[in-house]
Amino acid sequence: MILVKLGGSVITDKGRYRTFDPDTAGRLAEEIARTGQDVVIVHGAGSFGHILAKEHRLHLGISDGSQLLGASLVMSDVRELDLEVCRRLSAKGVRAVPLPPASCAAMRDGTLHHLDLDLFKAYLHLGMVPVTFGDVVRDEVRGLSICSGDQLMAALAKEFRPNKVIFVTDVDGVFTADPTQDPKARLIETVDQKVLDSLPRTERNVDVTGSIFAKIRYMIGMASLTNECLVLNGKVPGRLEAAIRGERVIASRVVS
Ligand code: IPE
Repeated sequence: MILVKLGGSVITDKGRYRTFDPDTAGRLAEEIARTGQDVVIVHGAGSFGHILAKEHRLHLGISDGSQLLGASLVMSDVRELDLEVCRRLSAKGVRAVPLPPASCAAMRDGTLHHLDLDLFKAYLHLGMVPVTFGDVVRDEVRGLSICSGDQLMAALAKEFRPNKVIFVTDVDGVFTADPTQDPKARLIETVDQKVLDSLPRTERNVDVTGSIFAKIRYMIGMASLTNECLVLNGKVPGRLEAAIRGERVIASRVVS
């Protein structure tokens, strides 16, 4: 089985509230479908989640009742994004089944504490493709908190030990600096803890589920649970498909 995360940066425009990229999402769905491989899909929230979640401070937990309406709005928005993703997957022949974390997971103080893995197993057994996503989820300590797609990826990798884990983003992989800002930024072929420690700490793009560093930390944690862990560019046609098929592609390889 191959575990794929479609990052919010590749299926939405992260800077503009609720802006979906139907062309990229449709093409990625087609690429997944063409491989015919067993996959489990996680997707990020992008601008359907981060912008309002930050405005309502949902990542800090619930301290006043007015945040609950914000949570409800974010939940509706991420479900709409999931519907767009699942519609495209099924249109291309992928038997997608949406599994929203708010209905099958629980958090404890900001950390994913329970995920109904039997549900994932049952749908996989049936021959369907579970699709889950970054969501607002009940938290035993904070009331509610944000469950990121990366936390879901880690829990799924631990349970299913996939052959491959692929993070699909809007850049070629992990760079020595922000490639959208620094023309001298270089793609790092192999990313490990030492590389992470040496990366410059930039405060740009810190969203409600943490900076790029938090994401890489999850990836390094997951690398030992799979044969290959890749970060690649989903805006480049064919790259995801080639990676699923086992061809060598431009990407960063994450190792533990
Ligand atoms: C964020 O999930 C979830 C919400 C803000 C509700 P992710 O952290 O996985 O999303 P992306 O991939 O960064 O957009």
